[in-house]
Amino acid sequence: MASKFILLALLALSFSRTLASDPGQLQDFCVADRTSQVFVNGFACKDPKTAVVEDFFFSGLHMTGNTSNKQGSAVTAVNVAQIAGLNTLGISLARIDFAPYGQNPPHIHPRASEILTVLEGSLYVGFVTSNPENRLFSKVLNKGDVFVFPQGLIHFQFNTGDKEAIAIAALSSKNPGVITIANAVFGSKSSISNDILAKAFHVDKRIVDHIQAQF
Ligand SMILES: *[C@@H]1O[C@H](CO)[C@@H](O)[C@H](O)[C@H]1NC(C)=O
Repeated sequence: MASKFILLALLALSFSRTLASDPGQLQDFCVADRTSQVFVNGFACKDPKTAVVEDFFFSGLHMTGNTSNKQGSAVTAVNVAQIAGLNTLGISLARIDFAPYGQNPPHIHPRASEILTVLEGSLYVGFVTSNPENRLFSKVLNKGDVFVFPQGLIHFQFNTGDKEAIAIAALSSKNPGVITIANAVFGSKSSISNDILAKAFHVDKRIVDHIQAQF
């Protein structure tokens, strides 16, 4: 009986490991070797003896992103692509700038939960839960407020003000990934058939063609 319980506990533990965002590191650091010909889940480590302080450093989050685009927002990501030393550490950062009434459109981070704080302005933010509830959790955030977007859920941020807004987001992966819903569904290369999208969105095919033409 006791051994059965231990077996179950071990199984539960091994499952929680499998579900964790990035694998736990087995050494102090594993600075990404982006030139490695070895393909692993993440990046191979460069020789730790050759690691330098710049492998753990990035400068630039003081800079305002260019929000002159259709969405009126700009994401400056600081993940393993910018800081090689983030490899295997399971964290990263982003600065998001918003033009007045600009938005970070509905998107997913397939590999990370996100915790966001507002530095300037006010943001209407939200996320939607999985099927079948598809419940929206939304709120207006002001300077200093903090909000959490659970891993893998569709979420967005919208600047409700007539001034620029700035947010900083921390993410639970060195490489969170982004899937912008509109781009992935209507702007895929090649296109998803308009028969499929018309049926999925309960609209006429011409409406799908019109949306696809925007991408
Ligand atoms: C911002 O982006 C727009 C559109 O791509 C471009 O025309 C403009 O030169 C950019 N501004 C700066 C300051 O880089």
